[in-house]
Amino acid sequence: MNNFWFSNPTDIYFGKGQINVLGKTLTKAGAKKVLLAYGHGSIKRNGVYNDILQELKAYSISYVELSGIDPNPRISTVRKGVEICRENDVDYIIAAGAGSVIDCCKAIAAARYYSGDPWDFFTRKTSVKKALPICTVLTLAATGSEMNGGTVITNEETKEKLSTGSMKMKPRFSILDPVYTFTVPKEQTAAGIADIMSHVFEQYFSYPESTILDHMSEAVLKTVIKYGPVAIGQPDNYEARAQIMWAGTIALNGLLGSGKEGDWATHLIEHEISAKYDITHGTGLAILTPHWMRQVLDENNARIFADYGRNVWGINDLDIWQTAQEAINKTSVFFKSLGIPSKLSELGINDEKFEEMADSALKYNNIGRFKPLSKKEIIEIYRNSL
Ligand code: NZQ
Ligand code: ZN
Repeated sequence: MNNFWFSNPTDIYFGKGQINVLGKTLTKAGAKKVLLAYGHGSIKRNGVYNDILQELKAYSISYVELSGIDPNPRISTVRKGVEICRENDVDYIIAAGAGSVIDCCKAIAAARYYSGDPWDFFTRKTSVKKALPICTVLTLAATGSEMNGGTVITNEETKEKLSTGSMKMKPRFSILDPVYTFTVPKEQTAAGIADIMSHVFEQYFSYPESTILDHMSEAVLKTVIKYGPVAIGQPDNYEARAQIMWAGTIALNGLLGSGKEGDWATHLIEHEISAKYDITHGTGLAILTPHWMRQVLDENNARIFADYGRNVWGINDLDIWQTAQEAINKTSVFFKSLGIPSKLSELGINDEKFEEMADSALKYNNIGRFKPLSKKEIIEIYRNSL
């Protein structure tokens, strides 16, 4: 195991009715004027918005709003949010929604104290020195953004989707009420599950191996494999939504990657697709993952894929190589069983931008620590996913 520093200061309030801590926790933190940020109205339709307003009213906390944050949140919305915060002396941000809302709020929180353009954080021109405090009211299990310091933003002019991270952007607290996820549509529930699984894969298929982390990762995978189909069949099944919600947070709150390098190839390759075609992140990951697995599988790492096959899928009667291949097949079949498209062409994507996407993926990063990938190999993964 490598040396590591692990700290996660985000308080989690998990369960039914936990919204009732919002007002008092903000008051205790000295919040006087908050930015209430959300997406395209799902929180108005499912009652989350009203629950938040009731809390703010009960504690006499005034607020301004930023609505209409898009999935794959845009840098222009971050700029708009910064203006609102500055003009209104906002001292706390409530991100009410899913990963896109939370990521947008993190970028706003950091850019509030930066005199340059917020995109500079993403091109590595600057780093986060200070940020407004934020809290989240999570409405979809997927990204883990509710308990990490990462943010992923799309620049709609350059068609780039880039990430940055800082401890300073970690939410101070997050409210995770599984009931708030009952209204998540089937496709988004499935995409969220694929995203959770991908976060685990990025850390499971990475070095150095770690018995404790690998078994914890397998537990997260088995949990979402068990409860994913339940949540899709019965959207208001509390236990299923609760298990998936906590699995999503654990999958990317730093724990499963502690002391490991992390791979992150599939994510970097996917971000190019959602940047250029504005598709749902988890859908892109579900399509790419089995092809990434087939691309990197070799005799040196087959045993790790076979462990995955045995411990997660219960494949016990095949040799190492066959177990590894069968595990990849099962992954692909599982994503399909959730109703997720299995080809990029089903999303109207063809090969015209593959070259450009591979170049762009490699612009700020080397791709793949589990197994480094060249431009040619990245294009091969895109082609095999068509
Ligand atoms: O806009 P609204 O009306 O809220 O609708 C949203 C949106 O259309 C809807 N939704 C959310 N909660 C709902 C709901 N609909 C009904 N009922 C509810 N309770 O779901 C749609 C998708 O929302 P989005 O926020 O985009 O989903 P997700 O949480 O999957 O976030 C995806 C974004 O996060 C980034 C992705 O790249 C993508 O931009 N990621 C962020 C990470 C991080 N910060 O750590 C890591 C991830 O790997 C990922 O890259
Ligand atoms: Zn992801």
